[in-house]
Amino acid sequence: MSSITVTVIDREGTRTEGVDWKDYESLMEALTRHKYPILATCGGNASCSTCHAYLDPEAFRKSGGTNEEEEDLLEMLDDTRHETSRLSCQVEWSEDLDGAEVTIAPEW
Ligand code: FES
Repeated sequence: MSSITVTVIDREGTRTEGVDWKDYESLMEALTRHKYPILATCGGNASCSTCHAYLDPEAFRKSGGTNEEEEDLLEMLDDTRHETSRLSCQVEWSEDLDGAEVTIAPEW
């Protein structure tokens, strides 16, 4: 099993470095394991948007950007969507994302 670490900025603006993310988890699963307040009501199926997060631009690029299902949902989030928005349940673990900065998006 491998693991990487990311920096997480929560909705209060608190920044935590060294948050571990294991290779069998989606980013959403890593965040919820660390008790970040992500509801993930759809269970990781790209249909609820409660796992919305922003990646730093380099990590966004390395993550491969949004997939089609994700894009459909993000399009509905006009106010909170940024250029580097992802549904964290759709972000797959990759060694390349070691050191990424993840900001949890506001609740809508
Ligand atoms: S957990 Fe529902 S969209 Fe990601």
